[in-house]
Amino acid sequence: MELLSKMATNDGHGENSPYFDGWKAYDSDPYHPTGNPSGVIQMGLAENQLCFDLIQEWVLKNPEASICTAEGANNFMEIAIYQDYHGLPEFRNAVARFMEKIRGERVRFDPNRIVMSGGATGGHEILAFCLADPGDAFLVPTPYYPGYDRDLRWRTGVQLLPIVCDSSNDFKVTRESMEIAYQKAQDSNKRVKGFLLNNPSNPLGTVLDRETLIDIVTFINDKNIHLICDEIYSATVFNQAEFISISEIIEQDVVQCNRDLIHLVYSLSKDLGFPGFRVGIVYSYNDAVTSCARKMSSFGLVSTQTQRLIAAMLSDEVFIDKFIFTSSERLAERHDLFTEGLAQVGIGTLKSNAGLYVWMDLRRLLRKFSFDAEMELWRIIINEVKLNVSPGKSFHCLEPGWFRVCFANMDEECVRIALGRIHNFVHLQDKGITTEPATTPKKQCKLQLSLSFRRLDERMMMGAHIMRSPNSPMASPLVRAT
Ligand SMILES: Cc1ncc(COP(=O)(O)O)c(C=O)c1O
Repeated sequence: MELLSKMATNDGHGENSPYFDGWKAYDSDPYHPTGNPSGVIQMGLAENQLCFDLIQEWVLKNPEASICTAEGANNFMEIAIYQDYHGLPEFRNAVARFMEKIRGERVRFDPNRIVMSGGATGGHEILAFCLADPGDAFLVPTPYYPGYDRDLRWRTGVQLLPIVCDSSNDFKVTRESMEIAYQKAQDSNKRVKGFLLNNPSNPLGTVLDRETLIDIVTFINDKNIHLICDEIYSATVFNQAEFISISEIIEQDVVQCNRDLIHLVYSLSKDLGFPGFRVGIVYSYNDAVTSCARKMSSFGLVSTQTQRLIAAMLSDEVFIDKFIFTSSERLAERHDLFTEGLAQVGIGTLKSNAGLYVWMDLRRLLRKFSFDAEMELWRIIINEVKLNVSPGKSFHCLEPGWFRVCFANMDEECVRIALGRIHNFVHLQDKGITTEPATTPKKQCKLQLSLSFRRLDERMMMGAHIMRSPNSPMASPLVRAT
């Protein structure tokens, strides 16, 4: 007899995937500007650290928002005792208002429909439990966030089936690709219960246009399947085109749709940069789903202490307006700095205007057009260039050579150092100093690369300022798939 359950012993969490080798490489040799300047730079973490100066200023100006200060301690007991699992009314109101604000005030959200979850991670699982039975399937356009395999599949037994998108049309979802995926599921007797959409997209950094959103809503309505829309990156949009929420499409009645099929997942992990607070939201237009999701949310509520702080912060509209504006401005600057730096050595990226990363095209550096070659290149980037980036295959991309690179979890000096390493690497490649195993004695080549990178790092470090903190000291394997 097995001592543990099948759930406890299966690999559904995804942590044993070879792609976590990058995290291991980072964990065992993390970059630090003074302590370990030749260490691995963490560019595999979609974290927004660009506006913590504004947050810190607000926290200092509003000590009563915390129950652990002299100004807030009077409310300690009231907040610490059991609360209604609907959430504090001021929290639900403030979150609903915030969600309206970042959608340009073009839609309204009912605070009574706000359901809390442990991050978007918990929100997805709640919805999967509400909408599907084990064995049922959701369609999801590729490439997609690897955490979905854990969040929607692992404990629920739901399957994810790819809608294949590729670079020929900049990874856009088309009606044809949706129909092909649906038909394939039918042919293999899989019951499709839903469509999982992520807008703005991780890993692409793109926003969906109105026509595509209308096509998707029409498709799910025709098939009578659910649409889960993960809008976790909605306030990370910079420049044109504007972000259009699924709520806008259905509220403005531009398309015929059964609203009972539409559900949103949101969180403050990306837009505010608070993944540690685990503030996730499920917002369903379906009464039965809202009611069931609320019951299920008991397993992953947001602590009342966090709700109180967030309610105060989000209700300060002057602060929030400034935050949203500044955050988007800084993300745009960072994006431009990074993509222009890549372009200088001929590395392209998918045109994007959202998210905390870019989708980098390294197809020309592949030894062969294969996932083995992608893996080989990725290992060189981690072990020799000393950057932890994420290979496209881990996002279920069906075309080798694409990599997601995060740029908002570090300071500017660190980005410049990363760019310096990439420049050096590409120059060496272009000079024919490759790491191709068949023709080059690997040891000798690796040595050359390592020495060059070290020299370059040292040169760059001479002009670099001390970083405020070592970037992203993330060690927990449980949050690695971001
Ligand atoms: C698209 C997407 N959805 C959900 C999540 C999980 O977010 P949370 O930290 O709120 O659980 C992430 C995190 O990287 C993400 O990129």
